[in-house]
Parts: sequence; C-alpha cells; structure tokens
Amino acid sequence: MNKKYFEVVKSGMSKAKPPESCTVVIFGATGDLTHRELVPALYALRCMNLMPESFAIIGYARRDWSDDKFRQEMHAAVKKESDCKEEQWQEFAGHLHFVVGNFNDEPSAGYADLRERIEQIRETEHIADNVLFHLAVPPEFYGDIIQRLGASSLAASKKGWRRVIIEKPFGRDRKSAVTLDREIHKVFHETQIFRVDHFLGKETVQNMLVFRFANPGFEPIWNRNYIDNVQITVAEELGIGTRANFYEKTGVLRDMIQNHVLQLLCMTAIEPPVTFDAASLRTETNKVLQSICSVNIEEDVVLGQYGPGSLDGQEVRGYRGENNVQEKSTTPTYAALKVTLDNWRWADVPFYLRTGKRMPRKLTEVNIEFKPTPHLMFPVNRKEGMNRNHLTFRLQPDEGIIYNFLAKQPGAELVLRPVNLNFGYNTAFGIEEPPSAYQWLLFDAMEGDQTLFPRADWIDNAWSIVDPIVERWEAKPWLKLPNYKSGTWGPAKADELLKRDGKKWNNY
Ligand code: BG6
Repeated sequence: MNKKYFEVVKSGMSKAKPPESCTVVIFGATGDLTHRELVPALYALRCMNLMPESFAIIGYARRDWSDDKFRQEMHAAVKKESDCKEEQWQEFAGHLHFVVGNFNDEPSAGYADLRERIEQIRETEHIADNVLFHLAVPPEFYGDIIQRLGASSLAASKKGWRRVIIEKPFGRDRKSAVTLDREIHKVFHETQIFRVDHFLGKETVQNMLVFRFANPGFEPIWNRNYIDNVQITVAEELGIGTRANFYEKTGVLRDMIQNHVLQLLCMTAIEPPVTFDAASLRTETNKVLQSICSVNIEEDVVLGQYGPGSLDGQEVRGYRGENNVQEKSTTPTYAALKVTLDNWRWADVPFYLRTGKRMPRKLTEVNIEFKPTPHLMFPVNRKEGMNRNHLTFRLQPDEGIIYNFLAKQPGAELVLRPVNLNFGYNTAFGIEEPPSAYQWLLFDAMEGDQTLFPRADWIDNAWSIVDPIVERWEAKPWLKLPNYKSGTWGPAKADELLKRDGKKWNNY
C-alpha cells in the first residue's frame, strides 16, 4: 500500500467520509489476527482519512504489555503489510492503548480496568460514547467475554452505541451456534451484532454482485438453460502452520465450507436483491441456502488430508507430521462436494465446491461453465470441449474477471483457439491488489452497516448443510488418510466426482 493506492481507493468511495467518533476495543490484541489484519486495516483507513476524527483503539489481552509495547508491536506488523510512513505512523500510534486482562476475569477486575480506561481516554481525547468491541479470540471465549461485557455495564450506554464483532467460526455446529446466539442476545440486540465472514469484505466477492446486477449482459443467461456447471475453488498453498490446536478440533468442513465456500455459492446463485442493503441481501443469500438439496454424503462428498510432498521445490511435512497434530488424526484438510439447488433458476445444475490446504498454489475462484453451442460448424476437436465458454471470477490472487471464448487463429486455415478477455484490478484501476477485506468490514461496523455480515439464520442454515457430513465423518471416516500429496490438487476421488458427470476440474 502506498500513496497512489490510498488515492485510488479513496476516489472509489462515494461516501468517503469518516464514521462518527468511537473507541474500538480489540480482545485478543496480541494475537495473529490483530497483527496481520485488524491494526493494518485500521491504519489504512486512517491513511485514507476514513477513521473518525477522534477515536481510540484499545487492545485487551492477558500479556503484560504497556501502551508502548503494543505500539511497537503494531508498528512492526503494519510495516510488514504496507509502506508505512513514519510521520503518519506516529500520529496513528498515539491512538493505540493497551489494557492487561484475562477474558474470563471477574467483571470487577480486567473489565473494570477496561471500563475505566475507555472513560478516561474518551474524556481526554473528546471521543463520543460509542464503542465497537472486536472479539479476535478463540471461539471458546466468546460466551465469557460477552457475558462479562454485560455484567460490567460495558455493553450499554444511554448516550451512544455499542456494537460487537464476532469472528468465525460461529459455533462448531448448529446447536452450539444457536446457544451462542442466545447468549449474545442476552446482552446485545441483533442490530448490534456483526458476525464476520471476511470473504464478504473482499472487493472481488462484492464485485460478483456488481458484475451480475449492474450489467445487463450476463443476467439473462445466468440460469440452467445456459450454464452447465459451476466450480468453486478455494485452494491454499499453506498448511495449518501453528494452528494445530484450533485446526484439529475444526477441520476443513467447519473452517471453510460452512462459511467462505457457501458464501461464494450464495454470491453466484443469489436472486437479484431489491436493494443493496443488509435486509435484502441477507434475505436473498439465506434463500440460496434454503434451496440447497440435502447432500448425498456417500456419493457426493470427498474428504482428504495432505500427506508429505513438495511445494515450490521444497519438501513439506504431511498433516500428521505437523506440530501438535495427533499421529493418527482423521481431521480433513480437503473437501470436495457436489451440491444442487432446488429452484427454478438452478435445478439440475451441479455446483462443485472444493477447498484444501497444501495445494499447488493459492487460488480462489468461481468458474462458470456455459453449455456448448448446439451446433458448431467450425472444425474443432470436440473432445477438448472447446466449444464452451467459461467465465471466471478470479477472487485471489491476480484478482479479476476472465471470459474465455473461441477465436480464429490468424492464418489461411480456419483454426479455432480459446482466448481470454481479461479484466484485472491492476490494469483497470492501477493497483496491485484490492484493499483488504477487513478495511471494509471494520469501516462498515463503525458505520453500523450490516450488509456484509451474515445473519443468524444464514449461519444456522449453513450448519444444517455441513453438520450431517461432519457427524458422519467423525463417527466413521470412510476414506483412508492421508489421501493426497502436498503440492497436488487433492485426492483422486475428487477428480472422479466430476468425471462421473463427464466433467473435470478447471485446474491450471
Ligand atoms: C480463514 C480460515 O477463515 O480463512 C483459514 O480459518 C484460511 O484456515 C483463511 O487459511 C483463508 O483466507 P484468505 O483470505 O487468505 O483466503
């Protein structure tokens, strides 16, 4: 991120005015998410003058850090993410503060310190009585923190607003999500709750809606009459890194399918909302989930776990060899599913979903494969399936939209070749990569706009789709693991899933 980047992004904002004065409290301020995403995003907003005129950011965590230590740590974190100018940083750093406390402290301990600190800073910095709490903590602490926010009178004010951002995963199944929701509603009203799925904050994901609903060209053919199948891929090169404790209990179905992958499916299959606002968008995405037919687990679900292999010429360990992973762990790191939607637009169109760790490269995309031309008069090798058009939303990296179609290769003979029409953020907008999802999620939460945050009923429905698969797998895994080598596109069975339907994954 540099000056040009900030100018381009800011010029693309019609509102482009900062939210009203508030304090942002980050629980889990010493953690990875705060370093990698939250503070760099708040800093980027500040550089674009999109932070409130008067504001404070208070980190809360149990490590014995001072304000200075917090500022130093965050400085290093921001420098990693952006081209951080000293003067701008010094100004921003003055807004950072730190309070030491445990998440399960008595309301009279850490939480009382926090309340006192918020009030004190508010008074000296002339900040309005508005507070946004961001729970960047392991999910098992959500209940404790929310309950203590209520008990220590931090969650209510007669003079201003209180809001809470909760990270995914929201629960570990439908039942626990409903319980968690009940706990939160004891303290916060639905309009105060912002459940994060950071994929919704990605520019490229929002652009899927713009592409479909701001342009007349594709919408008339966006249905079962013209679309043969949809492939959604969220491939990661990374393994689980240092997250074994979390990942062993979570696995790919809870970590990726229940949220990010189903959100991408919703963005592809959604009916046009009446307006671009929270109520319409959330209602329509929820309808997509409601129309998903129950998944045939035996036939249409392939799970996998990475074994040792090589990536970029380097040998890498298998999942079972990662630190803190059980020797015979059956936690899946890969999932491929075929789902269908029971509605007029999509009946009988297969949606193939797949996501996995330790794949050949990072690639998130939605690929729409159109039906072939009914009659092709040109000489073309039909076996290659060349007479199909593909539309690809490249969500990351090399963000853009690609339309793949046939063209005549120059020459005396009539030879057809697939070519690409390519929209890229770099060429169109002059920025290497779009702004981070968290910039917009934090900005919207400060604005009180819930459009990009899933509603409780969406989360419920998403669990209802994933729960039966998880339960079945955890009761008795039906595949022998590990079943794919690191650095490959997943288990062979995932290829068979498509081959059976006469199709294949859009691999590169
Ligand atoms: C997180 C998952 O929600 O999303 C991680 O917990 C995953 O396991 C990450 O790596 C992927 O996000 P992104 O934005 O890098 O695609």
